[in-house]
Amino acid sequence: MAEPTPTPADIAAGFPHAFVWGAATSAAQIEGAAFEDGRAASIWDRFCREEGRIADGSNIDVACDHYHLFQQDVERMKWLGLKAYRFSISWSRVQPLGEGAWNEAGFAFYARLLDALEAAGIEAHVTLYHWDLPAALEDAFGGLLDRRVVPLFAAYAAEVARRFGARLASIATLNEPWCSATLGYETAQFAPGHASRAEAYQVSHHLLLMHGAAVQAMRPHTTTRLGIVLNHTPAYPAEPTEADRRAVRIDDGTNVRWYLDPVFRGHYPADVLTYLGADAPRVESGDLALIQQPLDFLGLNYYTRHVISTATPAVVHEALFGHTDMGWEIYPQALSEFLVRVQREYQPPPIFITENGMANPDHVVRDGRVDDAQRIEYLRLHLQALQRAIELGADVRGYFYWSLLDNFEWNSGYLRRFGLFHVDYATQQRTAKDSAHWYREMIAAHRSKQGG
Ligand code: FCB
Repeated sequence: MAEPTPTPADIAAGFPHAFVWGAATSAAQIEGAAFEDGRAASIWDRFCREEGRIADGSNIDVACDHYHLFQQDVERMKWLGLKAYRFSISWSRVQPLGEGAWNEAGFAFYARLLDALEAAGIEAHVTLYHWDLPAALEDAFGGLLDRRVVPLFAAYAAEVARRFGARLASIATLNEPWCSATLGYETAQFAPGHASRAEAYQVSHHLLLMHGAAVQAMRPHTTTRLGIVLNHTPAYPAEPTEADRRAVRIDDGTNVRWYLDPVFRGHYPADVLTYLGADAPRVESGDLALIQQPLDFLGLNYYTRHVISTATPAVVHEALFGHTDMGWEIYPQALSEFLVRVQREYQPPPIFITENGMANPDHVVRDGRVDDAQRIEYLRLHLQALQRAIELGADVRGYFYWSLLDNFEWNSGYLRRFGLFHVDYATQQRTAKDSAHWYREMIAAHRSKQGG
């Protein structure tokens, strides 16, 4: 007989007492108010205006209008029972040109958001750079392509830490530098849409320098937890052949070790440097020491795995749990395996799953319900996988579902829906999906297990 489906309480029972439940968003994807109160363009505002870049031709001028609706969005977080909320600060909102004058009206928005979170008893976890570089820095010197961006980012980080550090549960320097570098500069899918492998790796090095310099610059201003958020898509060979294994090793090198090695070991992986040849980045003396800062947490985002076949035609396996609306395979086991590996190989500081979630073609049906049984299943499977990793020794302290709201999914525009809340973009109406009810029940069960 098939096993009974675990209830939210069954899932909650498997997590440690102090485990933190959260949800995540980012500034460019939800805020809107793109040119209000002194905010200037980021590279994403600019990219959206280029023909053919965004699948539905949309932009982020309004997005979820969270800039104006944040109070009610915080109410929704409270209804969910969230202990923590992860969001990002838009650099060009608080420092429109990326250097020079601060924009007080921009900082005031984040102060209001922090007030609302504090009143709701929700911890704030901030990311400083979730891909929205001030466009002015591209005009000034080429943005991420030039290392002049490094001290400017460190100055912005220090200012945020000075003003808000005491009110924040954590500060992450960067979100997913692999995406900024590779999707932005090698595959041209993300802003600024370049297609050069050499540029991508030079940019990845500058991003890592930004991380190190920012951590160093923030320390004197705050005692809050500092870290970085990395994304990894673990690679698996389609067949147990030498060729597939070699391809997996390179993929693992560019995707996983290229970031974890410098951050935790102070060097780039030698096999990837060889693979890159002339496209390897220019590294100056002292750079790697700057990158390898002591950290207080590691944020990991996990969505899917990558199966690599070198055969012709490629060997394709059936996906046991299917695919999401992004076309990404649902494969929870890789979350367990990856966490156990990172714990063993890098002995990182405490880990937070800073993103995990799925896109689903959700719509509001009768009586304001959104039936997203697929997302409930995704959540259940991934939380079970996470629990297994913790049992096997991975030191994971919290989980942030991506995302609180349906939002602007980068080059997919508004076509992909990841939210616990459905957003009707014509009216800005939010509707709790069935998964939001499930997550709420699970969090409540976890809390009552702790005795209130
Ligand atoms: C991650 C991003 C996040 C969101 C999800 C689906 O790579 O960090 O902003 O787009 O993917």
